[in-house]
Amino acid sequence: MARKSLPPLKVVKPAPRAKAPKARKAVDKPVYVLNGPNLNLLGQREPHIYGSTSLSDIDKLVTAHGKANGVNVLCLQSNHEGDLVTWIQEARSMACGLIINAGAYSHTSIAIHDALAMLDIPAVEVHISNVHKREEFRHYSYMSSVVTGVICGLGVKGYTLALDAILADISK
Ligand code: DQA
Repeated sequence: MARKSLPPLKVVKPAPRAKAPKARKAVDKPVYVLNGPNLNLLGQREPHIYGSTSLSDIDKLVTAHGKANGVNVLCLQSNHEGDLVTWIQEARSMACGLIINAGAYSHTSIAIHDALAMLDIPAVEVHISNVHKREEFRHYSYMSSVVTGVICGLGVKGYTLALDAILADISK
C-alpha cells in the first residue's frame, strides 16, 4: 500500500512584538475652568476660609497642570450669572471638559443647573472650602445633580484634582 505523503510543514510566524503604548495624544479642545462671583478676590477674600492663593495663581497652576498632561485650559471668571450660563453653553461644542466653581450661584442658580444639564462632556464642581461644614444655606448645590462629580473642602488643590478626573475620563 502506498504511504500517504505528510502534509507540508506550516511556517509559523512569530507573533508581532507588542508595541510600546503611545503617549496620550493632546486633546484638541481645551478644558474650561469657570469661576463665579467673588472668586476674583481670592487671596484677599476671607483668607481663613479660602487661603491666600489668588485666582490668577490658581489659573497658572491649572494651566501648567494641563500643559504637563497635554491638554489646554481656558480659565474664565465672572461675577455675572449670565456669563457663566453662556460659557457653559459654549463649552458644549468648544471644550472637552469643564471645571466650575460657581461660588454663591451654586446654591441659588437654576439657570446654571439647566445649562450644566445640557452638557455631555465631563464636568466637575469645585468648592475650595468644605461647604458642608459651613452655614446651612451652603449645603445644597443646584449643580451637584447634573455634574460628573464634586470636589469640596480640599482648598485650591481641588482644581488640579478636578482636571485629573477629567483627564482620566476623556482618555478612557
Ligand atoms: C465656594 C463656596 C460658596 O459657598 C461661596 O459662596 C463661594 C466659594 C468655595 O469655593 O468654597 O463663593 O464656592
